[in-house]
Amino acid sequence: MTGRYHETDPMSDVISDDYRMLQMISRFGITLGFGDQTVAETCKKANVDTQTFLTVVNFLTDTNHAHITEMVERIDLPTMLRYLRNSHNYFIDYRLPQIRRKLLQAIDMHSQIAMLILKFYDEYMAEVTRHMEYENTHVHPYVEELLQGRRGQQRLSDITSQHEGSHSSIDRSLTELKGIIIKYYPSDQNAALLSDVLMDIYMVEEDFLNHCHMEDTLFCQAVQQLEKSPLLSSPKEEESTLIPSPVGGDGEGMLSDREREVIRLVAMGLSNKEIAEKMFIAVNTVMTHRRNISRKLDIHATAGLTIYAIVNGIINVEDVKL
Ligand SMILES: [Fe+2]
Ligand SMILES: [Fe+2]
Repeated sequence: MTGRYHETDPMSDVISDDYRMLQMISRFGITLGFGDQTVAETCKKANVDTQTFLTVVNFLTDTNHAHITEMVERIDLPTMLRYLRNSHNYFIDYRLPQIRRKLLQAIDMHSQIAMLILKFYDEYMAEVTRHMEYENTHVHPYVEELLQGRRGQQRLSDITSQHEGSHSSIDRSLTELKGIIIKYYPSDQNAALLSDVLMDIYMVEEDFLNHCHMEDTLFCQAVQQLEKSPLLSSPKEEESTLIPSPVGGDGEGMLSDREREVIRLVAMGLSNKEIAEKMFIAVNTVMTHRRNISRKLDIHATAGLTIYAIVNGIINVEDVKL
C-alpha cells in the first residue's frame, strides 16, 4: 500500500497524528475505543474494507496524490458509497444546522446585515443540500446499478452534467460568506462567539473541499473503471468529469454608475426583467452588468450584493427587500 499508513499501524496513530481523521473514522462507521488494535484489525471488526479505509486516510493525509491510479484500484465502491453517504448525512443533518444555530447566537438579529448574513447562509445550506441529495438520489443509485452489472443508456458524465450546483460554485458561496462576515459585520458584542462560528465555517469549508476532491478524483475514477468493465453491456469509451471547471474572478474594480444602480435595484428585490424595464435596457444587458459586478466584487449571491449595497451606502436599509 502506497501512502503514509499501512494495515499494521495502530489505529490510534491515525487520530493522534491528525485530529481531523476523527470525522473520517466515524463516517466509516468505526467507533472509538479500539485500544492497541491495528488498522486492519479495527476495520475487520467494524466490517469495513481495509484497503478503502487506508486509501481514504492516505488520500486525506497526503495531499501530494502522486499514486492516484494505484489508489483508485484499491477502492471497494460499495464501501466508498457508504462513506460518501454518511458524509452527506453529516453535512446536511448535523454540521450545517449546528453552524446555523451558532450563527444565530452570534449575530444581533435586530440588525439588517445580520438578517442578510443568515439569509446568505441559508441559501448556502440549501445549495449544499440540493447538491448532496442529487448525489444520493441520482449518482449513487447509478453506481449501485453498475455494481449489479446493469447499465442503462446514461453514463456518469450524463448524470453529473445535470448536477445541481458545482463543487466550485458551492465553495465560492462559502468564501463569499466568510468575506462578508469578516469585512462587514461589526462584532462589538459577541466577538468571541462570532470568531468561533467563523472558525467552524473555515473547518467545514476544508472538510467540504476534501469531500469534493475525493469525489472528483478517487470516486469518479473508480466509477469510470467500472464503466469500462467488459462484464457490463454496451460499454462506451468516453471520458467523464464529475464537476465542471471553476469560474475565476478578476478581483475588485471600480463600479460604474450603471452597475451601482443595478446593485441598488437587486437589493430592492427586483428581478432582472424588472431592472431592465426600470433602466430602459435589455435583460441581457442587465445580466452582463450583473456578471461584471460579481467579477469585480467577487460576490455572486443576491444577499451578498445587498449587504455590499448597504455597507457602501448604495441603498438605505429601509429600502432593502428581505
Ligand atoms: Fe458528495
Ligand atoms: Fe459532490
